[in-house]
Amino acid sequence: MAVQATDTSGAGARTGGIEQQLALALVRVAEEAALASARTMGQGDRKGADHAAVQAMRHAFEEVPINGTIVIGEGERDEAPMLYIGERVGATPRDGVEFPRIDIAVDPLEGTNLCATGAPNSIAVLAASEAGGLLHAPDCYMEKIIAGPATQGALDINAPVWDNLKAIASRLDRQVKDLVVIVLDRPRHEKLIEDIRKAGARIRLIGDGDLSAGIAAAVRGTGVHAVMGTGGAPEGVITAAAMRCLHGEMVGRLVVDNAELEKRMERMGITDAKKVYRAEDLAPGKQIIFVACGVTPGSLLQGVRFFGDGYRTHSVVMTSNPNNVRFIDTVHLSRKPGPRGVRLY
Ligand code: FBP
Repeated sequence: MAVQATDTSGAGARTGGIEQQLALALVRVAEEAALASARTMGQGDRKGADHAAVQAMRHAFEEVPINGTIVIGEGERDEAPMLYIGERVGATPRDGVEFPRIDIAVDPLEGTNLCATGAPNSIAVLAASEAGGLLHAPDCYMEKIIAGPATQGALDINAPVWDNLKAIASRLDRQVKDLVVIVLDRPRHEKLIEDIRKAGARIRLIGDGDLSAGIAAAVRGTGVHAVMGTGGAPEGVITAAAMRCLHGEMVGRLVVDNAELEKRMERMGITDAKKVYRAEDLAPGKQIIFVACGVTPGSLLQGVRFFGDGYRTHSVVMTSNPNNVRFIDTVHLSRKPGPRGVRLY
């Protein structure tokens, strides 16, 4: 993944500086989506919030020097006008410059209901890698267990809930009762919630957003130790991209519950419907970039804050190679600040 138009500093810098430049350009894309959807916060219009994010993200990609292909997006071409699977995105190359081929997974507004109700933890998010580095997962459900780096190799999606909790607790040098597990509040999780309660772990039920929950589970100090349950498979792939950068552990299995879905999977090249995926299978790329920008305030990221002469965004951008995690706090000025200077809130 080298952006030749700007790579003038030799092979040594090729892996470092160039990735970082692309990462920063992608931060801008997430920021634009976050800004647009944050304007709709609390309006009760989840579709409008999503549409604003999609439009802004699509537009922002036009400035990024990549030959990008959406591999996870808003749906198939005939059901989504923008950011559909297979859509090409990126700036128009000039003067014979070839932009790098990049696969992109987007969720312009993860947690549409959260944004529409002003609840915490909605984010604008995307992941990128060299071509072929992100699984083309169908838009179906995925069973997931996500936890931090200490649990590498310790999670088993076929094992009882108690075994997984015991393994996580032991790797984190604590007792099961000291764990906090995030679970999507859904009727399908009744048994899972019962099992976690029986095991004695603490639970945080969330209305939406298992992607940002997964990231929180992989970061120390967030007060979250695991995410368990069934959520979206596309969100699963994007979570896996973050895990590749954070060295978090994740196991997942697609929920294939009808023949039509099975056929769709075959067309996408997925032949083993029962395969247990780890982060390395879902996001196998050598050079992964993950970006999220807060829309509403959350446990890891601030939401967008507006003030008279601009707004402020809070993003995280991670790369797997070189392995960096950067938090970016940006004040965007829309006009010259007032006499008392730049405002931070
Ligand atoms: P949206 O951003 O599309 O609203 O999805 C939010 C989400 O809660 C995801 O975080 C999660 O993976 C999925 O929906 C769960 O799906 P469902 O709401 O059908 O249980």
